[in-house]
This record gives sequence, C-alpha cells and structure tokens, in this order.
Amino acid sequence: MRFSWKFMGMLVAGAVALTSTTAIAAEDASSIARGGRLYDKYWGENKTAKPETNHQSFANKAGKYDKDASWRCKECHGWDYKGKDGAYGSGGHMTGIVGIQGAAGKDTAAIIAIMKDKTHGYTDAQLPAQDMKDLAMFVSKGQVDMTKYIDYAAKKAKGDAAKGEGYYNTICANCHGLDGKKINNAPPLGSLQNPQEMLHKVLNGQPGQNMPALRLLDPQISVDLVAHMLTLPQQ
Ligand code: HEC
Ligand code: HEC
Repeated sequence: MRFSWKFMGMLVAGAVALTSTTAIAAEDASSIARGGRLYDKYWGENKTAKPETNHQSFANKAGKYDKDASWRCKECHGWDYKGKDGAYGSGGHMTGIVGIQGAAGKDTAAIIAIMKDKTHGYTDAQLPAQDMKDLAMFVSKGQVDMTKYIDYAAKKAKGDAAKGEGYYNTICANCHGLDGKKINNAPPLGSLQNPQEMLHKVLNGQPGQNMPALRLLDPQISVDLVAHMLTLPQQ
C-alpha cells in the first residue's frame, strides 16, 4: 500500500480526539471533583470539626468572613482561583492574596507541602491524607480559566440560557425545583447571582451533598446552566 499522508493525518486526529476524551481517568476525575468541594468548604465535605478561630493568614481587611469562613480555600484564592487578580480583586471578599494558577500542573506532593506550610497550617485532623490528595489533584489538574466562560464586568455567563434551561429542567430540577426554590432552608438558586461561584459548584458539586459534578462534560453545558440559573427568580 502506498504511504498516504492523508491516512496518517486521520490516524493522528483520531489519536488526539481519543486522548482528549480519555485524558482524565475516572478515579482521577472523582478525586479532582472532591478536591473542588474541599476547596469550597472542607468541613462540609469531610465532616470534620468546623474551625472556630481565624486562619493565621486571614486577610479580609473589612474583618468579614472570619472564623470558619477564613479557612475556606476559596475565601483567600477565589471561586475563580485567581485571588487578587480575579473576582476577589475588589469588593467585600477582597484579600490581596495571589491565585493558585501558578500551581496548576505541579506535582501533588509539592502542593500538599504548601497546604501544610507556615502560611497555611492545615493539619491531618482537618484534612486527612486522602483529602490532601484530592485537594492537590484539584489544584494541579482541575482549574479552569473562568475568564473564557464569564463576562466579569457584566457578571454574566458566556452561555445560552435557553439551552441551559433544558439541561437544568432535566438534570437539576428534581432537587432544586424548576424555579430553583424547592430545597427547604436553602436560599433560591437565583439569589446567588455569582457566576464564578455557580460555575465552580456545577463543575465539582456541592460539599456534603449528592449533587452531581459535571466536570467531564463539555464545559459549555455548565456555562449554559449558569446562564440559565442567573435568570431564575431571586426571591
Ligand atoms: C487565609 C488565607 C488562605 C487560605 C484559607 C488558603 N490560602 Fe493558599 N495561600 C495564601 C497565601 C497568603 C499564599 C501566598 C504565600 C506566599 O506567597 O508565600 C498562598 C499560596 C497558595 C498556593 C501557591 C500558589 C502559587 O502560585 O505558588 C497554593 C497552591 C495554595 N495557596 C493552595 C491553597 C489551598 C488548596 C487552600 C485550601 C486548602 C488554601 N491555599 C487556603 C493564603 C491562603
Ligand atoms: C441530588 C440533589 C441535587 C441535584 C440533582 C442538584 N443539586 Fe444543586 N444542590 C443540592 C443541595 C442539597 C444543595 C445545597 C443547598 C443549600 O444548602 O444551599 C445544592 C446547592 C447548589 C448550588 C449552590 C447554591 C448556594 O446558594 O450556595 C448551586 C449553584 C447548585 N446546587 C446548582 C445545581 C445545578 C446546576 C444542578 C444540575 C446540574 C444541581 N445543582 C443538581 C442538591 C442537588
């Protein structure tokens, strides 16, 4: 058979398509999503004791979000992982702390060492070995660049709310209700009005809840969902 560059190209394209869909093994995907929920509120996910005192690097100048809140990774590094260079660069949650993008792709052992360093001081009682591992997997392999999906100035998702409504009504409404108000004692979903927070939660799930994590689906699905949630009734 004559060597064909066209055939070769098809082979390469096929291999690339295959690796991009299978790049993250199933067990890694659930570890990364769990790491995302620990990044959100670790004690909600791992059911350890809620911290009672301020984190030693607590930096909110307004004195807000102290005590337990000050221990949430997201409180210092943001829902968008960009810290002072992202959505927490201004407003009530402003910290002046760097983001974690510099650690994307790093070895998990190096990231675990950061979580145990003097700045952070997380103990094994707060984050047992598997939790440290999941968090490090999230930091290394789970970060998305939210500026691609969210218009920061307008506080809108770069998504199709009509498509998002279809996804929402079939995947989410059983728990949340078509209007986002079905879960008792929870504020209406539409009242959140925070696209970065919504996107993080849709990709990774809600700490300690049976909510799905959509991170292996096409990210545009999650972005469309956020676009729809922003239109739900706010009260
Ligand atoms: C109270 C604030 C605070 C909290 C909470 C916090 N961090 Fe940090 N983090 C910092 C500060 C400050 C730095 C910068 C340290 C330095 O420059 O030496 C940092 C740096 C980092 C870095 C290095 C970033 C880089 O570019 O090298 C990583 C990774 C990191 N934090 C992960 C986490 C994780 C994971 C959590 C939650 C388990 C967390 N942090 C919780 C304050 C915090
Ligand atoms: C198995 C039930 C279940 C399903 C299915 C589910 N969720 Fe949730 N979700 C919850 C629970 C429980 C909470 C926590 C509510 C609370 O306490 O504020 C939550 C919280 C949230 C939050 C954070 C709300 C807040 O105010 O902090 C968002 C955003 C969210 N869900 C979006 C979704 C989306 C989008 C889907 C579909 C892709 C979905 N959920 C599917 C149970 C579910």
